[in-house]
Amino acid sequence: MKDCLYLFFFMLHFSTGCIVSDVGQTMVITGYTGGSVVLPCSCADPQTTVGTFTWGYHQGNKWIQVFQDEKYRGRRMLFNELSPTNLSLLISDLRKNDQGYYKCMTEPKIFTDVILNVKGCDLVDNRRTVVVTGYSGASVVLPCSCTELLAKPEHKQWKYNKENQFKEIYLNEEIENYKNRVKLFDPNTPGNLSLQISALTTEDRGYYQCFVSSQQIVFVSLHVLHPEEKTSTISLSTHQLSHQTQELPPPRQTQHTPQYVFILVAVFSVILLLAFLALSSRCGKEEVPCSDVVYVETIYTSSCTE
Ligand SMILES: *[C@@H]1O[C@H](CO)[C@@H](O)[C@H](O)[C@H]1NC(C)=O
Ligand SMILES: *[C@@H]1O[C@H](CO)[C@@H](O)[C@H](O)[C@H]1NC(C)=O
Repeated sequence: MKDCLYLFFFMLHFSTGCIVSDVGQTMVITGYTGGSVVLPCSCADPQTTVGTFTWGYHQGNKWIQVFQDEKYRGRRMLFNELSPTNLSLLISDLRKNDQGYYKCMTEPKIFTDVILNVKGCDLVDNRRTVVVTGYSGASVVLPCSCTELLAKPEHKQWKYNKENQFKEIYLNEEIENYKNRVKLFDPNTPGNLSLQISALTTEDRGYYQCFVSSQQIVFVSLHVLHPEEKTSTISLSTHQLSHQTQELPPPRQTQHTPQYVFILVAVFSVILLLAFLALSSRCGKEEVPCSDVVYVETIYTSSCTE
């Protein structure tokens, strides 16, 4: 009886093959350009033997097999050799056009659906001009980054406008005097393309372009000042800062201080004048002992007699 039961279960396994877990559910997986993702698919029962299975990608109303498509060559990997019921697919060096619908299809036509989103590089300040000030002899960082810092841009290119023509200065240094002076400031973050230029000279001023694709470009206008000009610019920039952040208290203070001083001076003068008038009228007509007017004695000693 026990043997029969065992045989029955064995046959059940044999006939059903791999039933994928999460049948009927659509999973949404997000990746970044240049990164990698694992599209999950596994048999619900880890004891099953897996027959044939495929990964399909939906394109133009057809299902294209990932393992027969050139597009994925060198970028696809399975794990089923080590763990036979793990049918997950790893896609590396993701591209924008990997985005879409995928299906893991096992022999008795049971599917797992996966939607893959691939986030690419959208530049912060795309199509805008950023103004940067540097000082000759020092280095400067021209800012440029993707909104998703994990996304690797299609291209990483910087150009400089020399004689009305944009020429590449990173990665290829097409202009001689940029050789060995430019590098990415943050090379470990795929989405940060900020460029550092060292040993600045006034010749470096002008327009730069951070180029990712024809739709993704940031312009940088670089001003180069002499180091002596630094102090005046610092006070200018703090002035601008208080304007940008709209800090109201400082302007109010500067308005109030003169008024306050003015009122004090006016009141004090009136008191002095009254005191003087009182003193002169009393001192002039009758001789008043100075002890009576001791509070103004230091100023008006000449008006009274000892
Ligand atoms: C299958 O293998 C991949 C890669 O090792 C792993 O990330 C995933 O969790 C595995 N899936 C299952 C269900 O074990
Ligand atoms: C990119 O790198 C620069 C230089 O390190 C840094 O100033 C900037 O904050 C970084 N950008 C982002 C968005 O992290």
